[in-house]
Amino acid sequence: MKIAVTGANSNVGINFLTEIASKENIQITAGVRSDSAIKLLPESSNIHPAIIDYNDTGSLEKAIDGADCVVHLAGILIEGKHTKYQQANVDATSATVAAAKKHNVTHFIFISVIGADQDSTNAYFRSKGLAEKAIQDSNLSASILRTPILLGPNTAGGSSLINTARPEKAKLLGGGYYKMRPLDIDDLNAAIINCANKSLPGCKIYELVGPEAISYRDLISKVASMQGHAIQIGAIPIGVTKLMAKLTSSIKGGGFTPAVIDVITQDEEVAQNADQELGLNLTSLETTLRKLL
Ligand SMILES: NC(=O)c1ccc[n+]([C@@H]2O[C@H](COP(=O)([O-])OP(=O)(O)OC[C@H]3O[C@@H](n4cnc5c(N)ncnc54)[C@H](OP(=O)(O)O)[C@@H]3O)[C@@H](O)[C@H]2O)c1
Repeated sequence: MKIAVTGANSNVGINFLTEIASKENIQITAGVRSDSAIKLLPESSNIHPAIIDYNDTGSLEKAIDGADCVVHLAGILIEGKHTKYQQANVDATSATVAAAKKHNVTHFIFISVIGADQDSTNAYFRSKGLAEKAIQDSNLSASILRTPILLGPNTAGGSSLINTARPEKAKLLGGGYYKMRPLDIDDLNAAIINCANKSLPGCKIYELVGPEAISYRDLISKVASMQGHAIQIGAIPIGVTKLMAKLTSSIKGGGFTPAVIDVITQDEEVAQNADQELGLNLTSLETTLRKLL
């Protein structure tokens, strides 16, 4: 099987490539936007880097040509001065979908987020919802995996967890009472491989979360305890933080915005976890945290 991966240098991408690099029957085109990103990719005779410019249809089509499956990972939560949700989450997805359609790709896989909704008032959730819509409207055979915070080597969520739990005191947004369903990155890799192998017709949305619901404050306490110490947890008022974020992000043209704060502090809830449908035996939170530490 030939798989084309976009955003291959993302944390999810590097974990996925590392997982499948040694599989004999898989060839991977790893799409990135720069030469410096190529250097971050795992080295393997199965992995073939390709430079993609999402505004240059030719470069995208060249990377996707001959692929059975596209795994679209390019996307952002934190906007920068020059990288906005519209460009990174919506337009890049539409361009990748168009190239996949032109080259008759058998299956398209997209990593979305719990809460994605094209009508959301939150700009991040809306952009992920619009990306999903572009895929649904294409009539490609597709799997959309809506995921929560992902935990694995170098994931943003994993690094933040370890750093926040390291000192003996931590201040969390609103005291950290929001509920999380952390998903082990290895389980996401297994879900992607499962979707690639099944290639069911139509577009299916899976909401895939980890096996255990836990508040962020309890998660921090658990990680601190696994690091061998107790932690005292205080609260940062969410309203004040959002006001500050509004001010600083408008000056900087991106970064930590009120929308990002709303994403981080939302409860990660699903009506039905897709783990069984995807044939997964989810990793326990305890095991995920041990691997992380
Ligand atoms: N990490 C999580 O907990 C989590 C949770 C839910 C969903 N997801 C989704 O999973 C995917 C990978 O996440 P990640 O955390 O591994 O990402 P990441 O490490 O932050 O990497 C972001 C990727 O998006 C690319 N990108 C940035 N701006 C772009 C633009 N304007 N056009 C095209 N590509 C652009 C980056 O390329 P450059 O390096 O060239 O900038 C990079 O490859 C994303 O779609 C994300 O929304 C992640």
